[in-house]
Amino acid sequence: MDNLNKKVALITGGARGIGKAISLKLAEQGFYIVVNYRSSSNLIDELIKEVEKRGSKAIAVCGDVSIFEDAKNIIKEAVSAFGRIDVLVNNAGITKDGLILRMKEEDFDQVINVNLKGTFNCIRHVSPIMVKQRSGKIINVSSVVGIAGNAGQVNYSAAKAGIIGVTKSTARELASRGINVNAVAPGFIKTDMTDTLSDKVKENTLNGIPLKRFGTADDVANVIAFLASPSADYLTGQIINIDGGMVM
Ligand SMILES: NC(=O)c1ccc[n+]([C@@H]2O[C@H](COP(=O)([O-])OP(=O)(O)OC[C@H]3O[C@@H](n4cnc5c(N)ncnc54)[C@H](O)[C@@H]3O)[C@@H](O)[C@H]2O)c1
Repeated sequence: MDNLNKKVALITGGARGIGKAISLKLAEQGFYIVVNYRSSSNLIDELIKEVEKRGSKAIAVCGDVSIFEDAKNIIKEAVSAFGRIDVLVNNAGITKDGLILRMKEEDFDQVINVNLKGTFNCIRHVSPIMVKQRSGKIINVSSVVGIAGNAGQVNYSAAKAGIIGVTKSTARELASRGINVNAVAPGFIKTDMTDTLSDKVKENTLNGIPLKRFGTADDVANVIAFLASPSADYLTGQIINIDGGMVM
């Protein structure tokens, strides 16, 4: 595939939910899109068509971000398709909720491995590329739960808090190389991930949101598009809540 000096954005777990909204928004902003997915589905073909409708190009790369070698391969495929990576959005994530009294060791490990280690793995492999380019933007998807905690989400809040630490340390390390590293901390966003929560949990959550509505995937994608743009060149090491005022 040719590289017409277009900027390239890689979105992990980008086929559905927030990741899909990010992929489409960045395509609208003129980025070529590399969408990582874990298991094949017709969502990928649909997404590629949607990107093309927006006048851009996309490739899909299968891989599990929690596996170091998969992450290496995802980055390699992106570079071999488009020659560069300007933006990495570490969006892939999972939940396996449960109270601490009952949480299984494997549920703790899995959530840490996908959310936190997956973020490390992708940053580890994209850094040499961005250092060589002397430019790049890394945007990590944390959560307000990583800031405020949440009953039933010890594993998830630990992973998302860890992502905040990774964001700040990496921002300090890579700033002199022209690389910005920031994170977003979404609140309650309507996606498949939150669809499974009970009506009671949803009602309680809504009561704690000053703007009195749940967020949409586009609410998150809009902020990420800003962080990916030159308008955010003077921002690094920041965690931006996108939560209708839930945590302040
Ligand atoms: N929905 C919310 O309210 C909310 C709030 C705060 C943060 N977030 C975060 O936003 C991100 C997107 O969540 P979403 O709501 O769109 O959920 P989602 O479940 O719809 O999307 C998650 C995506 O990650 C992919 N994925 C999971 N494990 C993977 C792996 N090992 N390798 C590669 N891809 C993998 C999934 O296939 C899916 O496409 C996640 O990091 C999530 O923790 C969501």
